[in-house]
Amino acid sequence: MSIDLESIKLKLLKPPVTELSCIEKYNIPSPQRQLYVVCITEGNYIVYDVVTLDPVALKNLSKIEERLYDVLVGEESLTDLLDEVKDERFKHIIERQYAGYDVLEPFFLDPNIINIHVMINRPIQVHHRVYGRLNTNIILNSDEAVELALRFAAAAGKPLSEATPLASFIEPRYESRVSIVFLSDVTMRRNITIDIRKLTETPWTILKLIHMGSLSIEETAFLWLMVKYKVPILIVGGLMTGKTTLATSLLALIPPGSRVFTVEDTPEIRIPATYWTRTTTREYGEYPISVFDLLKTGVRLSQDYIIVGEIRGEEAREWAHSILLGHCAITTFHAESPEAAILRLLSPPISLDPQVIKMINVFVKTNIVEKEPNKRVFRHEVYVHDENIIKPLFTYNPTKDIIESNVENPIESFKFIDRIVLTHRVSREILEREYKAMINVLEETYREALTRDPTLETPTYRELAEILYKKLYEKMQRSSF
Ligand SMILES: Nc1ncnc2c1ncn2[C@@H]1O[C@H](COP(=O)(O)OP(=O)(O)O)[C@@H](O)[C@H]1O
Ligand SMILES: [Mg+2]
Repeated sequence: MSIDLESIKLKLLKPPVTELSCIEKYNIPSPQRQLYVVCITEGNYIVYDVVTLDPVALKNLSKIEERLYDVLVGEESLTDLLDEVKDERFKHIIERQYAGYDVLEPFFLDPNIINIHVMINRPIQVHHRVYGRLNTNIILNSDEAVELALRFAAAAGKPLSEATPLASFIEPRYESRVSIVFLSDVTMRRNITIDIRKLTETPWTILKLIHMGSLSIEETAFLWLMVKYKVPILIVGGLMTGKTTLATSLLALIPPGSRVFTVEDTPEIRIPATYWTRTTTREYGEYPISVFDLLKTGVRLSQDYIIVGEIRGEEAREWAHSILLGHCAITTFHAESPEAAILRLLSPPISLDPQVIKMINVFVKTNIVEKEPNKRVFRHEVYVHDENIIKPLFTYNPTKDIIESNVENPIESFKFIDRIVLTHRVSREILEREYKAMINVLEETYREALTRDPTLETPTYRELAEILYKKLYEKMQRSSF
């Protein structure tokens, strides 16, 4: 194998030659650890290294490049080399280029970036949470783009070549979904497309959603009770209305120690459970694996909870099957209302058995409402599908901007609660006490969390379940006398 010496050259992301007037300027990955400077201008995302190298440093850098040759031919290990390099500035550059994804690293490190889109000889485009789609100052030529695509594929252990030019997989370093159309006859040998959907940051806790007014405390307690007793929950709403965010935060209400099985296209969900089988689909190749395949496996693995990131089509039948077997299934479904969701589940191509629909009793409807001009907030409602009727339980009151409870005592009022009573052999009285205790625990935990940390960064997503269940257990113990 011959190694192109040019490719060993360590690249520096140099600051722009002319002074830029930035709409916003910040450091990434964080103000504490500054590796890159980001400057947002009208439609552009300019990124460069915080470090600059003087001539002496540049000379030292080229000495390291010689050693990198040995690393590439396998005569030296990268770790050893990095251990020896004392200059932190060099370490960062070498790491990025040899262990990371090269000039794409800053986009991965910037939590504002949710999508990265690479084509040959065009500015790499990114989607920024605040500024939307931006062109960056990074451009890859054909060789560099090919190299990058192969690097992604190698990291994920996937074949990528002219013969197998389509690939979509989760890369292991940042757990993002990478989809590639490789330079081949498919692209008439003209281009390559690499599209990367980044994983979101640490999930929001249910306390944060309460704090933002997206859920009321009673509403959260009701959903908690449903999660605890493995009642399926279908989260419906339009695009980008917070379905996945809500599903994820509900998962922290699963009793610690439960077995959880998740199925997703892109791994967005993170769960504080120890017995967690986490699966993602495989889209291309000789042996693709669909949501349907994964669900079928989940049902066989005797799981307590089966979570599907999103159902869209026929896989809904397998999902319904898991509900029939008594698994709690938390799922998101793109539909305007619970009624619309039911209609779509009943009609082709899904065509669920109406008997199964009866088992889907709890719907959350996610909404975005315009509170003031240009101020959009998320407000989520709960509907109960009971005795073939959709009954509102928690609904949004726009005049007061609060989520109101429509039913005095939900545990007493709904017929479907009988199923919980039968399957779990608990009385309605206990369920009612538990519901009240949950309201109490949430109020208390929320209040304590706010006094300790007004930003609610703590308790973290991982800590919350333990805290909530410990308090719940204590309260139930006390109230049993
Ligand atoms: N309750 C909320 N309050 C404020 N922003 C939210 C809320 N829920 C979600 N978001 C933001 O809205 C965007 C879309 O959320 P997501 O859960 O992915 O929507 P969906 O799954 O419905 O498409 C994300 O950027 C997320 O951070
Ligand atoms: Mg979603």
